[in-house]
Amino acid sequence: MTTAEDSKGPPDPGTTGDPGIKADRVLCDLDEIEDGEAKGFVLDDGQGANSLFVVREDREVYGYVNACPHMGTPLDCQPDGFVSPDGGYILCSTHGALFEIEDGFCVSGPCAGASLEPVKVALDADDRVVLRRS
Ligand code: FES
Repeated sequence: MTTAEDSKGPPDPGTTGDPGIKADRVLCDLDEIEDGEAKGFVLDDGQGANSLFVVREDREVYGYVNACPHMGTPLDCQPDGFVSPDGGYILCSTHGALFEIEDGFCVSGPCAGASLEPVKVALDADDRVVLRRS
């Protein structure tokens, strides 16, 4: 059972976030993201582009809006460069903030205690990464 206490802390990936896309959408095949790595996407719903990224850990995928809570800039300086060198965190390349992969919570850097905005993603029956809007 969910209580008010349960809703405290960082947001749950998959329950919030609005990249502006109004329908489920296939982003890529799971095999297109190396295990422990990430991939960025820019989607356009006709009302402007929306940038997000997906981190893969084995068969789990975690999606976030590509905007750092510190200054709102994209996290990656290099294409798909979202993960720290040790593979343990999401890294903002601008000022080095580190975020937990599983929930986007910032554990180090100028926005410590803040969180990335989650985007609901999942694998479908064909091992494709799908952005869920429903
Ligand atoms: S913009 Fe990400 S840590 Fe400053």
